[in-house]
Amino acid sequence: MRMSSVIRRAVCPGSFDPVTNGHLDIIGRAANLYDELVVAVLINKSKSSLFTVDERIAMLTDVTAEYGNVRVDSFHGLLVDYCRANQIPVVVKGLRAVSDFDYELQMAQMNRGLAGVDTLFMPTNPEYSFLASSLVKEIATYGGDVTSLLPDAVHKQLLSRLAERAQHERAQHVDSSTTSAERSEQP
Ligand code: PNS
Repeated sequence: MRMSSVIRRAVCPGSFDPVTNGHLDIIGRAANLYDELVVAVLINKSKSSLFTVDERIAMLTDVTAEYGNVRVDSFHGLLVDYCRANQIPVVVKGLRAVSDFDYELQMAQMNRGLAGVDTLFMPTNPEYSFLASSLVKEIATYGGDVTSLLPDAVHKQLLSRLAERAQHERAQHVDSSTTSAERSEQP
């Protein structure tokens, strides 16, 4: 039993566009190590995303509801500023493969140098070592089966968003081909 009254808090930051089973694996394991785990969604206006920040927060809140000590939030700007403002001394990052390590090490050292914020690297479950939101989106866009890679509710939302997007693209295509046909009819 822990006698200290200090709350051990950590943050798990990311884009989560959308949250995958790989993210959930890290979030669940990190939640077991800390009193409070904040899952923080980066607000990045320069990066185009499939889901809005609010949608990503809603999905994360839903799929982490079983962990009583996980809270979902968003942040913009530097992660260390968010950590400082929220008294969070530790960042938790999942490492899928050696290829993740170079960049993650650089960020971890920079964050430690900037604000004394430490990083805990957690090896992902090998079942998810190939998993990335970007790959999931690409595979699902072309009809591949990603059922086992995402929580059910997220999978449903992904398929419905991709269907909406495809319909929108078809409508735009019809629109632009009608316009060019009309143009070519002009005397
Ligand atoms: O899921 P992602 O997109 O790989 O997450 C990357 C993230 C959000 C963890 C990283 O880009 C980040 O911490 N961005 C915040 C901006 C920042 O602090 N940059 C300096 C890092 S040393």
